[in-house]
Amino acid sequence: MSTLHSLALVRDDLMPGRNWIDGQWRDAASARRLEVSDPATDAVFATVPDSGAADAQAAVDAAHAAFPAWRAVPAKQRAQLLKRWNALILQHQEDLGRLVSREQGKPLAEGRGEVAYAASYVEWFAEEAVRGGGEVISPPVAGRRMLALKEPVGVVAAITPWNFPAAMIARKIAPALAAGCTVVCKPAEDTPLTSLALVRLAQEAGVPAGVLNIVTASRERTPEVVDVWLADARVRKITFTGSTPVGKHLAREAAGTLKKLSLELGGNAPFIVFEDADLEAAVEGLMAAKFRNGGQTCVCPNRVFVQQAVHDRFVALLADRVEVLQVGPATDAASQIGPMINARAVDKIDRHVQDALSRGARVVVGGQRLPALGLNYYAPTVMVDADATMACSCEETFGPVVPVTRFTTEAEVVAAANDTPFGLAAYFFSTDVQRIWRIADALETGIVGINEGALAAEAAPFGGVKESGYGREGSQHGLEDYQHVKYVCQGGLGQPAG
Ligand code: SIN
Repeated sequence: MSTLHSLALVRDDLMPGRNWIDGQWRDAASARRLEVSDPATDAVFATVPDSGAADAQAAVDAAHAAFPAWRAVPAKQRAQLLKRWNALILQHQEDLGRLVSREQGKPLAEGRGEVAYAASYVEWFAEEAVRGGGEVISPPVAGRRMLALKEPVGVVAAITPWNFPAAMIARKIAPALAAGCTVVCKPAEDTPLTSLALVRLAQEAGVPAGVLNIVTASRERTPEVVDVWLADARVRKITFTGSTPVGKHLAREAAGTLKKLSLELGGNAPFIVFEDADLEAAVEGLMAAKFRNGGQTCVCPNRVFVQQAVHDRFVALLADRVEVLQVGPATDAASQIGPMINARAVDKIDRHVQDALSRGARVVVGGQRLPALGLNYYAPTVMVDADATMACSCEETFGPVVPVTRFTTEAEVVAAANDTPFGLAAYFFSTDVQRIWRIADALETGIVGINEGALAAEAAPFGGVKESGYGREGSQHGLEDYQHVKYVCQGGLGQPAG
């Protein structure tokens, strides 16, 4: 019999159920509410405001008013505040992990893990805050002092996704606050609760009124909120994680006031196994990269290429691992793969599998919905004989499906890996040192994993190229994305003494 986890919170006030604007918990001006459901059962278990234009406007007004005082706070004090926030997040890891798992569906071990991952960004940017001041430049002529000062860009609008309800908001808000920016945030409609809980803890850590503002909204009303922020010239930056079509829309609309943008968009990651790879390590790497969050990450391998000589052995090893994965709700301690976020997600996964089968792919493991568990479950799946014509090779599946394609030569697989408009992550396994650097150089992505499937880290720059977007999150580059450079030159200082 399996052990059951409780997803009830110790601290009920971590579900405030209201927007946080200008240091106050507020309902939407319209009083409308948005229902939040558990993807494991589709049962509604909470409501939050379904905000509109008036709420979005109030949030920007507050963030704009708070900016001059916040940017003037010494970086060391901003860092101390972020450290307090980090400590509170870790202190409430269990409650936050339960909330993540309840609204997003991932197994509780992953929910807790995501909270630690979120906190790692807050800690990292607390430490970076004091190192983001700028440079002194050697002047090319005498009698001058020249400086490149780093300044906060101003009010930042953060629009966050549902797949990592804690980590994505943390890695946007922490660098913004560290840099001295103020923030308006709209979390994903499916997973607003974790964001509100994190903001509650930020309030307890002492983030001043107006510095951080959050409004929740339904899918239907989100454009109303975001349009206010896009049109308002006081919003100087948009940071967004989500789909490429929405990212393009934001880029077009933000052009009206030339806002700075960070866009972390869709991926179509290749995972390549060369014949000289350590196959056990490659399977391990694929399991870690592919099945994290049930395959619902932008960096999940979407296309798996295996060289002819090792194809059958690799597939057999992989199938052995995939067929024993436990699928179930976060309340079941044995679950390794949770429900997908909603029925639309499952429909897309099934469409990709059916399309692949109709074009000649063959299922080795899984390949079906799991209605006995609920409407949002899909079986971990391995398919072979996938090719570039299939939807699963061209679009992000965002689910627990591994389509395997056989290849012969290095040149052929590099061309296939790069044959996509996307360029977020790529992975490959090889033990040939010369090949390793050839392939790492040839792959057109912002992130490359060599003999490693778990790449995420607060110290690393996360982001893509091509239609996967631009900007970087994490690392020192993640702070720079919230700053601009002001060149200051003082002349007339005369010749050096002597
Ligand atoms: C994402 O899926 O957008 C983020 C994944 C990560 O942080 O590793």
